[in-house]
Amino acid sequence: MEIDWGVGRYEATGEMLLPVSEIVVGMAEPLARKTVVDVGCGTGNAALLAASRGAVVTGVDPAARLLEVARGRAAKAGLDVDFVVGNAASIPLPDHSADVVFSVFATIFAPDAEAAIAEMVRVTAPDGAIRFTAWPPEGPLVVINKIAGQFMAEAMGQPAGEQPERKALGWHDRDQLRAAFAPYGFDVEVERRELTFTGKSPADYLATSSEHPMAVSAAKALASLPNGADLEAELDARLLAATMELNEDRDGFRFSNDYVVVTARRG
Ligand SMILES: C[S@@+](CC[C@H](N)C(=O)[O-])C[C@H]1O[C@@H](n2cnc3c(N)ncnc32)[C@H](O)[C@@H]1O
Repeated sequence: MEIDWGVGRYEATGEMLLPVSEIVVGMAEPLARKTVVDVGCGTGNAALLAASRGAVVTGVDPAARLLEVARGRAAKAGLDVDFVVGNAASIPLPDHSADVVFSVFATIFAPDAEAAIAEMVRVTAPDGAIRFTAWPPEGPLVVINKIAGQFMAEAMGQPAGEQPERKALGWHDRDQLRAAFAPYGFDVEVERRELTFTGKSPADYLATSSEHPMAVSAAKALASLPNGADLEAELDARLLAATMELNEDRDGFRFSNDYVVVTARRG
């Protein structure tokens, strides 16, 4: 299912993912006067952090609504950031112009991974670096996404596991990434980190997650079916049961999920 990232309210998820941008931007310091592009910037997490450290920043995202949110946040913080519609395979910057290319859980959604890598390489300055994050194929988020994905596939009459045609790349996988970046003379390092999600309760966490563009798109698709309301209720019940099982905090909600920070630069 093609996701329109402008629907729903990605803002809430953006807040949960902010610690990752803090890590990734921190790893790239010093950033003063550096040229930075945040690919798939969403509501501007990494872009704004880089700008606050003195970088000259362009935020790129296919979702115009999220760019509007990012512009609002920049204005509120008194930061000057250029936010432009684009995507990982079409970055509106000249060749070799970016000292740092960030992409926090965004390039991983590019339908053509090879094209996205070629484009990130193209805009990276000779001594620049690409830093992006990806989820490994395990952990609570994968469990929850699998439940939702399988439910949707069955409800929509699609064989479970069937994906739209795309050039799949293990964005978390060191060997696959090294092979993908090697033709450009780039070395790749992969560092594993952990992100903790918290909330008042599993139900509270799910309520916030239900505003995520993927959840909103799924709900819309279910609502178009004759028994849509029942299906939506069934999916909610399954997700709540799974989230309760994954919960690590008896008095509230907490689970942790690994992610990887990938750094690619010319060898
Ligand atoms: C999980 S959000 C991450 C947003 C932001 N980087 C953050 O950390 O909050 C994924 C973002 O990737 C963007 N995206 C989706 N497909 C993309 C593509 N092909 N190229 C670049 N960004 C894309 C979405 O619009 C969305 O803003």
